[in-house]
Amino acid sequence: MTKPTKKLFIKTFGCQMNVYDSERMSEALGQAGYTSVETPEAADLIILNTCHIREKAAEKVYSDLGRLKQIKTARGAEGHDTVIAVAGCVAQAEGLEILKRAPVVDFVVGPQSYHRIADLIARAQKGERDVIDIEFPDGDKFQHLPARRAGARMASAFLTVQEGCDKFCTFCVVPYTRGVEYSRALSEIVTEAERLAASGVREITLLGQNVNAYHGAGEDGAPATLAVLLRRLAQIPAIERLRYTTSHPRDMSEELIAVHGDEEKVMPYLHLPFQAGSDRILAAMNRRHTCGDYLELVKRIRLARPDIALSTDIIVGFPGETGADFTATMEVVEQVEFAQAYSFKFSPRPGTPAAAMEDQVAEDLKSARLQELQALLRAQQSAFNDACAGRKMPVLFERPGRRPGQLVGRSPYLQAVHANGSDSLIGEIIEVDILGAGPNSLEAEIVSVPNRPEMAAAQAPIG
Ligand code: SAH
Ligand code: SF4
Ligand code: F3S
Repeated sequence: MTKPTKKLFIKTFGCQMNVYDSERMSEALGQAGYTSVETPEAADLIILNTCHIREKAAEKVYSDLGRLKQIKTARGAEGHDTVIAVAGCVAQAEGLEILKRAPVVDFVVGPQSYHRIADLIARAQKGERDVIDIEFPDGDKFQHLPARRAGARMASAFLTVQEGCDKFCTFCVVPYTRGVEYSRALSEIVTEAERLAASGVREITLLGQNVNAYHGAGEDGAPATLAVLLRRLAQIPAIERLRYTTSHPRDMSEELIAVHGDEEKVMPYLHLPFQAGSDRILAAMNRRHTCGDYLELVKRIRLARPDIALSTDIIVGFPGETGADFTATMEVVEQVEFAQAYSFKFSPRPGTPAAAMEDQVAEDLKSARLQELQALLRAQQSAFNDACAGRKMPVLFERPGRRPGQLVGRSPYLQAVHANGSDSLIGEIIEVDILGAGPNSLEAEIVSVPNRPEMAAAQAPIG
C-alpha cells in the first residue's frame, strides 16, 4: 500500500524573496511527504508567507486567517485535521501576538527558521500550544535546506544571494524582520545556478533586500562583489540572462555599472529605488544619498548602457513632505523617464522612527499626490513601451498565455511579451517583431525559430 501524501498550500505575499522562500519551503516539505495543491480547502497544511512592509499587506493576513478558520472548521467536521502556519515578515515582527489575535494559527515561523519547519509541524500536531520560532541564527538558512531543484520547464528562476539589511531607512521594517545583512558564499550560489541551468532554466534573477551590497566569500575566500558574482555566473553556458534586484543607490559601484556595459548576459534593466526627490526628505529617511547623487548615478549607468530600462520605488507623504518636496519628486521622475515604477503612500510601521515623527501627512493629501505621480509614471511606461513597437527583440518565452496558442515571455527590458507560438518554444530565447504596445505589455510575432530538429514542430502554423 502506498503511503498517503499530505497536501500543502502556501500563499505568498510581499517581495520576490518571499516567492523564493516559498519555493524552498515547498521543496523541503516535498521531501517530508507533502505535495502542493491549488486551494486551501484541499490542504492538510496551510502556510501564509507574509509581508509586513505596509499596513495593508500586514492586515490582509488577518482577513485571510478569518477565512482559513472557516475552512479548518469545515474540514474538521469531515474528519480532516488542518495545520495553519504564519511565516515571513509578519511572523517575525509580531511573533506571539499572532497566536493571541488569531488562535486558529498552529505555529509561527520567521524567515530565518524555515529549515526547522518539519519539527514545528510535528510539535503543533502533538497539540503543543504557542509553537513559535523567530530566532535569527548565525549563518545561512539555505545551507540547511535540501538542494534546490527547478520545477518542470521553468525558464526563469529567482536565486536569493543576500538577505537582511543594515541601512535602517527610517520608514522601513526590513532590518527588523530580516535581520542584519548576510551574503551567501559565491560557490554555493554557483552550484545552485548550475543545478537550475541543468534543469532548463535560462534566466536567473539574483535576489537580496540590498543585492548590490553583496559581499559573500569568493573563490579565494576573500569577499566577492556582486559584479564578480555576475561575471562568474555569466560563464555558465546555459544561463543566457542575468538580472538582480533590489539595489541601493549607495552600493551602485563603478565596477557594477561596468558590468552593464560589457557583460551581454546582464539584461538592460535596473530597479533602483530613489524614494523621494527632496534632499531634506531623503535625509529624514536616512537614505544616505541626495537627489543629485541619484541623477549623477543614472547618467553614469546610461553612459555604460544607453538603452537600459530604469525602474524605481517612490514613497509619497513621508512625514513633513511639503508641496515643494513632492514637486521635487515629480521633477526627478520627469528627468529620469522611468520604464516602470512602484509608488506607495507612506505607511507608518510600528517600531520604525518615521512612524513616531511629527508632521504626519493627511491621508487625502497622500492619495492626491500618489494619483498625480502615478499618472506621470503610467505615461512614461506607455511611452517606453510605444517606443518598442516596430523593433526586433529577443524574448525568453516562459509560459502559455491565456488564449489558446499564445505564449508569454519577457523582453530584455522585462516587459511582458505576447506572441502566438507552440508550447515547445517555452524556455527558448526567440527573436520577435514587436507589432504593438499596450500600457503593460507588448504584442509580437515570431519571425523565425532556431533551426534545430526538435524545433520543427514549433514552426508548424497554429490552428
Ligand atoms: N531594499 C529596497 C526596498 C525594500 S521595500 C530598497 O532599499 O530600496 C520595497 C519598497 O517598499 C521600498 O523601496 C519603499 O519604496 C516601500 N516601502 C518600504 N517601507 C514603506 C513604508 N513604511 N511605507 C510605504 N512604502 C514603504
Ligand atoms: Fe528598507 Fe532601506 Fe534596507 Fe531598503 S535599504 S530594505 S528601504 S532599510
Ligand atoms: Fe515584505 Fe518582508 Fe519582503 S516585509 S517586502 S516580505 S522582506
